[in-house]
Amino acid sequence: KREVKSICCIGGGYVGGPSAAVIANKAPHLLVTVVDIDARRIAAWNSDLLPVYEPNLFELVQPARDGSSGREPNLVFSTDIDQKIREADLVFIGVNTPTKKTGLGAGKASDLSWLEAATRRVARAATKDTIVVEKSTVPCGTANMMREILAANAQPGVKFEVLSNPEFLAEGTAVRNLLHPDRILIGCLETESGYAAANALADVYANWVPRERLITLNLWSSELAKLAANAMLAQRISSINSFSAICEAVDANIQDLAYAVGLDTRIGPKMLNASVGFGGSCFKKDILNLVYISESLHLPEVAAYWRMVVEVNEYQMARFVKRIVNSMYSTLSNKKIAVLGFAYKKDTGDTRESAAITVVKSLMAENASIHIFDPQVREEQIMADLQVERGDKQITVSSSPYDACQDAHAVVILTEWDMFSNKASKTLAPPANEAGGMANGGAAKPSPKHEKVDWARVGELMEKPAYVFDGRNTVDKAVLEDLGFRVEAIGVASSSRLTM
Ligand code: NAI
Repeated sequence: KREVKSICCIGGGYVGGPSAAVIANKAPHLLVTVVDIDARRIAAWNSDLLPVYEPNLFELVQPARDGSSGREPNLVFSTDIDQKIREADLVFIGVNTPTKKTGLGAGKASDLSWLEAATRRVARAATKDTIVVEKSTVPCGTANMMREILAANAQPGVKFEVLSNPEFLAEGTAVRNLLHPDRILIGCLETESGYAAANALADVYANWVPRERLITLNLWSSELAKLAANAMLAQRISSINSFSAICEAVDANIQDLAYAVGLDTRIGPKMLNASVGFGGSCFKKDILNLVYISESLHLPEVAAYWRMVVEVNEYQMARFVKRIVNSMYSTLSNKKIAVLGFAYKKDTGDTRESAAITVVKSLMAENASIHIFDPQVREEQIMADLQVERGDKQITVSSSPYDACQDAHAVVILTEWDMFSNKASKTLAPPANEAGGMANGGAAKPSPKHEKVDWARVGELMEKPAYVFDGRNTVDKAVLEDLGFRVEAIGVASSSRLTM
């Protein structure tokens, strides 16, 4: 039986940091170290402003990192990568695996260069037998590549066992997902030493995850299960979004439709919110990876099937922009547009593949003057995503929603932050961990940033007719219409069409 006492997580990003924090809290007898080549990120993990904004994360990191009454610290963030690898019995590799930009498979295949570099580093640094866990999302077969690299570069007498352990957390709910996972997949070689390594990792999770949720399967099934899960989740969004287009045309209501369809227990209610489109660093990348794998395996029909999920997402964003332009008398030239929300979803400061980037760039092409407010995304991040300089004529980042909406002709909601919602059912509380840092190493914003938007006040500030284009079906349309707004929601026929 293999025993794990010390764990090293290579890659302190959205996955590595929160995962390590949860293990350190739930298994206080283990030493958990997070290492990263990005020294700024490590410094931020060691500060009060964590590099990742995630509700309740700071509360988890701080006591494990700094110790508290009755507990020794067991969570370390370090740039001393080789030393920490040497000390570990088990190494998680949770580095980035983005879509390749150039070369074979460009625009589809995953770029495994960071993963390969990290694997080579483990191979060279380790001085004792080590379990290497592939945590990053990768194409199936990657574990084989890792086994080859590890074996070819190992120090004499050192043996490695590779496991696949894909991560299913969702940003914005990472802590909850990690504490209460639906399942943990542990893929291993079907050999005695493979199973021994899998059991050692299962013992780590068993500190807080019920045994029946720990699933052992072969490496390739495990790797493919992650891609399949993301593809099917994204497919639900594209499916409901395709119906939103029909709803808008026939005067059906997408929210009623989603509710009615989701009541079927075989379908279920989750991931059926129609919106301007999905974003985030994973869905598009993982589906394109799946498309590439399918093409490589000479399965063009399978590739085409999954590619459509991405195409419908792009169609949905384009449709939304078209609706804005058409509603506003076909010209946005010199009109002020307030954009509320820039993160790809609420409760994260992450903007990777955010629909906001695509929509705002399209609005820029229409010569609109755009003022953006997001409670967690920093100005520099927004400017970088839009590829504009500070002081750009078209783009202004506002520090309050009211500044953004002052004299605006339209408000465009692109992230479903609770603070933008005037629906009765949503919670009023700002996300926890206000001081817990935000994405990309920025300063935490004060809590008034998350105060509920007073839509009556917004209405008074705006030019008339005051439009709201709700890309997330976040506001109660009827209530805003009573306040005098013209509201265009996803999957609901345009008000102007109805009055014509
Ligand atoms: P990230 O970009 O936030 O973090 C990756 C970190 O790895 C970076 O800080 C980078 O500096 C570091 N790194 C890269 N090469 C390294 C090396 N050789 N040695 C040490 N550190 C190195 O990425 P994120 O979002 O945490 O994703 C990581 C992986 O997990 C990806 O494969 C992703 O597909 C997967 N994943 C991401 C989820 C998410 O919601 N972000 C959810 C589930 C899986």
